[in-house]
Amino acid sequence: MTLRTEAVADRPQQQEEEGGFNDARRLVEGWYWALRSRELPRGRARAVSLAGRELVLYRGQDGTARALDAHCPHMGAHLATGRVEGDTLRCFFHRWRYDGAGHCVEVPSLGGCPLTTARVRAWPAAERYGLIWVWAGERPTAPVPAPPELAGVPVQARLGRPFTKGCHPHVVLVNAIDEQHFNSVHRLPVTLCMEPRALSSACLEVRNVAPVRRDSWLGRRLALLYAGPLTYAMTYSHGSVGTVTLGPDRLHMHLMFALRPTADGRTEGQAIALTRRRPGVAGALVDRLLLAATALVGRYFARGDTIVFDTIRFDLQTPIAADRAVLAFMRHLGGQPTLRWADGAR
Ligand code: FES
Ligand SMILES: [Fe+2]
Repeated sequence: MTLRTEAVADRPQQQEEEGGFNDARRLVEGWYWALRSRELPRGRARAVSLAGRELVLYRGQDGTARALDAHCPHMGAHLATGRVEGDTLRCFFHRWRYDGAGHCVEVPSLGGCPLTTARVRAWPAAERYGLIWVWAGERPTAPVPAPPELAGVPVQARLGRPFTKGCHPHVVLVNAIDEQHFNSVHRLPVTLCMEPRALSSACLEVRNVAPVRRDSWLGRRLALLYAGPLTYAMTYSHGSVGTVTLGPDRLHMHLMFALRPTADGRTEGQAIALTRRRPGVAGALVDRLLLAATALVGRYFARGDTIVFDTIRFDLQTPIAADRAVLAFMRHLGGQPTLRWADGAR
């Protein structure tokens, strides 16, 4: 992973506040997926609307992806209409040129001098799992999320198709620990009692370990795969990424959901199947099969909830004991720093 922390302008004037569960006006600080890596070849700039803020992403000749606010601080032209030169970006309109930290390094009509008063906001960017990620906040306090057991080890990733949902990402994320709906919507033949625990200030794990019940067709099939207890662990990072780890203890499936809100509070998401990279040709084959199976499981669980996501007005007015993990997630996000992020906030 390339982690760029130097491309950060002065501390943002966005006031940091705590809170922000399901709040379309504020963005929880963290890593947000922005673009597929392959959509940004070397020497290209692309416009990206990320959570209601217009950005330009560009890849310099050094191969590094960089993220800036979209509009030129001279007269407001969109910088994605400009041209990448070396590791800098030149505005199309009057040809001012900016480096990856957002400094204006050349104004042609000033004899090619830099102009220190012209500065565009730069955002830390990183690449992992075939995606370019942007840190919403001043300076990353953590690397791009990984399932805890895959942190620091080589991984293989398989990207699913980007998807949209009709509600805020936090409501989508909380679905993965909503005990009651696993039985009512997904008919999962597993007894659920999810246990939340904080892994760090920005990371919450919710875990369920239970045997598969054999009183249904699905339960009997699952029991063939999982003779012992089935482990289900959901790890939340910031308000934007949830990673499901599923399986018996020897063979885990990891499915990451990277989500970002749209300007009107809906969700743009990207599912990523992950596995530890195994050595050799046989290992590569196992990786591919496991990633394909993980993607299938993800599609199965993503389908059942669409009707809810497109119509819900989330408001947990009458929590019961089975909503304990949902409440823990809401409390967890309530303690995260947030930003005024929408376009125009500086
Ligand atoms: S608007 Fe970009 S250089 Fe003038
Ligand atoms: Fe669901």
